[in-house]
Amino acid sequence: MSTKCKHSYRLRFLVTSIITTAVVAIWIVVLVTAQQPSDPLTGNWVVRTPNNDGTFRTTYLNLKQEGARITGTIRVTQFFYHITESTGGLDGFTLTGSMMDGKSERKVQYEGKLVGEELHVSTRRRPTDKPTEMVAVRAPAGEGALPPRNPLPALHKVQDNGLARTPPMGWNSWNKFASRVDDATVRSIADAMATNGMKEAGYIYINIDDTWEGSRDAQGNIQTNKKFPDMKALADYVHGKGLKLGIYSSPGPNTCAGYEGSYGHEEQDARTYAAWGIDYLKYDWCGARTLYTDEEMPALYQIMGDALLKTKRPIVYSLCQYGRLDVWKWGADVGGNLWRTTGDIRDAWDSMSRIGFNQNELADWAKPGHWNDPDMLEVGNGSMTEIEYKTHMSLWSMLAAPLLAGNDLRSMNPEILAILTNKEVIAVDQDKDGSQGKQIWKSGDQEIWSRPLSGGAKAIAFFNRATEPAKITVRWADIGIKGEKRLRDFWLHENVRWPGPEYSLTIPGHGVVMFRVS
Ligand code: GLA
Repeated sequence: MSTKCKHSYRLRFLVTSIITTAVVAIWIVVLVTAQQPSDPLTGNWVVRTPNNDGTFRTTYLNLKQEGARITGTIRVTQFFYHITESTGGLDGFTLTGSMMDGKSERKVQYEGKLVGEELHVSTRRRPTDKPTEMVAVRAPAGEGALPPRNPLPALHKVQDNGLARTPPMGWNSWNKFASRVDDATVRSIADAMATNGMKEAGYIYINIDDTWEGSRDAQGNIQTNKKFPDMKALADYVHGKGLKLGIYSSPGPNTCAGYEGSYGHEEQDARTYAAWGIDYLKYDWCGARTLYTDEEMPALYQIMGDALLKTKRPIVYSLCQYGRLDVWKWGADVGGNLWRTTGDIRDAWDSMSRIGFNQNELADWAKPGHWNDPDMLEVGNGSMTEIEYKTHMSLWSMLAAPLLAGNDLRSMNPEILAILTNKEVIAVDQDKDGSQGKQIWKSGDQEIWSRPLSGGAKAIAFFNRATEPAKITVRWADIGIKGEKRLRDFWLHENVRWPGPEYSLTIPGHGVVMFRVS
């Protein structure tokens, strides 16, 4: 072989080797990149926090990462957000989620970073709050997805169930116990109510609020969680005390505390409640806001109204959607016996008085079988004074409001029990004509409310919303009372001598003086 020939052979060999090496290298790069995606945040992530009753509070972050941009959704308890903003990268990113809740926008923010196979995230309710730290792991695609929207029925008038001819009276677990309510607590509350004079005063319903729910069985039947081993046995126990048992659910997929709602299982759940022996249902909008607008509320409430009627068991139907869409105008048409008119009450003068004194406009919507519900009582929960609790009880009775005690009936002091069982005040609340009282006079922080009672009598309440005692003087004629009357003071439990055409009285700060005028 000539030298020239040898050289060209070597050159060809070299070029081929370089090309082969380059191709192999490119393949390796391609393979390695495919195994280690440049968008490792993409996927369905879940945080499961145990609720200590066998259920979990879940947060699903369904993320799609394209370089520095993250889109997707966040589903947590009753909320479902679309991610609208994202900043940062793998070792530190921030997501902002947004959803419409009725007419207002609700936002949430998560900070996070990828740590090995885990997504470490934190969120806070308000910017000043301590962040809640969570660890998310990968979940199968589709798990935790929001169910599709079911079509809504045409509206019709649901037949009156004939219940709650006077405002319901009883107890509800939420204000005091929230998620701590369990079978033993309910039984002991029933024991207390049956023996401490409350039952005798008219308190009948023992209502379990949110957090009793477990998951559904293979047939879709709702089950209780570990806190309530046997709901039927509990109902039997409560009935054995001459009392009735209430329960709670939502027209949405989740309740407000993130438990299983009745969405898509309305008739089945109503049948289950009836089979357990349930006598009262509070139906709370909550997770329905992820699928439906406020305007669609009546149809969703109607589904359960119909379902309850179909069971043939008398079950009081309590609508809870915080007074949106002027519920007082349609609550009775969907079968409601009562409807919440406001957001949640707190055990505080500001909350209670703001809610209570704001009900004036709604008076005409209340009638036997169908009541405005300014939320449950906070009497005895400890953050208001006895004077303020008397005002709370008096105002709720003037409003023909449901009287659902919200305190621990097993350990209240005699003063609180006396407030809750003031029979003369309760008689106003339970007046069979069912006309709600109205504000008839106001001067600064002092207000007079009047409620017509059956047989032509009236309840008159003098309220002082100021912190200091206030003296007021009124002419009876100016507040619609003509001629000499009999006056009965409901809190002093004594008859008061007719003072003549004018009356002066001093009302303690945040206090009330309440009379029957006949
Ligand atoms: C809502 C209701 C409350 C209570 C909670 C339970 O906030 O308004 O009365 O039922 O849900 O999660």
